[in-house]
Amino acid sequence: MEMAEVGGTPGGGVHRLALSDEDRAARDLFCGWCDGAGLTTSVDRLGNTFARRPGADDDLPPVLLGSHLDSQPSGGRFDGALGVLAALEVIETLNEAGLATLRPLEVVNWTNEEGSRFPPAMVCSGAFAGVFELEYALGRSDAAGRTIGEELDRIGYAGPAPVGGRPIAAALELHIEQGPILEEAGTTIGVVAGVQGMRWYDVRIEGEATHAGPVPLRRRRDPLRGAARVIDRLFASALESDEEARLTVGEFALRPGSRNTVPARVDFSVDLRHPDDVALEALDGRLRLLVDEVSREMGLDGRVEQIWHSPTVRFASECVRAVGDAAAALGYPQMSLFSGAGHDSVYLQRICPTGMVFVPCAGGVSHAEAESVDPADAEAGANVLLHAVLRLAGRA
Ligand code: GLV
Ligand code: MN
Ligand code: MN
Repeated sequence: MEMAEVGGTPGGGVHRLALSDEDRAARDLFCGWCDGAGLTTSVDRLGNTFARRPGADDDLPPVLLGSHLDSQPSGGRFDGALGVLAALEVIETLNEAGLATLRPLEVVNWTNEEGSRFPPAMVCSGAFAGVFELEYALGRSDAAGRTIGEELDRIGYAGPAPVGGRPIAAALELHIEQGPILEEAGTTIGVVAGVQGMRWYDVRIEGEATHAGPVPLRRRRDPLRGAARVIDRLFASALESDEEARLTVGEFALRPGSRNTVPARVDFSVDLRHPDDVALEALDGRLRLLVDEVSREMGLDGRVEQIWHSPTVRFASECVRAVGDAAAALGYPQMSLFSGAGHDSVYLQRICPTGMVFVPCAGGVSHAEAESVDPADAEAGANVLLHAVLRLAGRA
């Protein structure tokens, strides 16, 4: 709740965009708590922050546990923050119990998981895992043209540590489910089997600006009509394809943006997701075809740029087992599920065995101020995280 005050909104959520002043304050608070827990903190060139507790054999690769502290523009208190703070709680619990682990543990806060300020999502954990070049990540820019590199410098979190390139024994992340499955099933713990595929696009449709009064509708080349037609047909395709298809248009901009001028240009984002990569590929094809088709029909110029593709992933069986066994040993009801949301774990699993624990959130609502978690479920999730970490890090 103290973390939720950083960037807290009147509606009960948080506004803590990556590398904003609020993000800096959240990082400062987190680092202070890590110091208090006796951890040694290091920050890499992308601001990814690792707070380390030595292992009994400190030369062994560490187990990473954590998530992210950045939020959506109108985000909730728990998306990301629950995973970072539960990881810290695991450390404090081990400290209080006087328990050492064989492997070192590192509590991690990944930079810019959300990707809503600096698309794409998860770009800094992606760079850590070698999926993106450092320069690519540093160069991602927000709507005002400020880059990740500039903003890291500005808030003082461009650290000296190299990004990735070191062995990691395993990674674990606790997160709210962000969907309704656990709540509907009345189940406390989600043992996450994997994460569905995601593709992000920038779509631009250009027509001709003209006066809203004198020019008859039939003589116009109005890109808004084109965008509306593309989006409506794409939703119809997604609805037809199957229950598992996801389509979201979350950003939409008209230029010049005047009520009595026909727009010259429309830019919008498209977020497509599906657990089956073949079905996702089909939706990709449908989007491209529709933009071409509608542009031809209406005398417009349309183009589609894919800015991100994260294929479906499946988590390593040893981590899935560690989470499931921990939940069973603690007596919590559990079920296996697939993640609809993206997480830094998607990229971590490329370099080390990775697993996730989900807990329910009220009404399945997330990426919204209304996001909330039953404290008993948060506690259960943290307990499962602790016991899964012990299984993977080994007792000294
Ligand atoms: C990350 O929050 C996502 O878009 O799934
Ligand atoms: Mn998240
Ligand atoms: Mn999120």
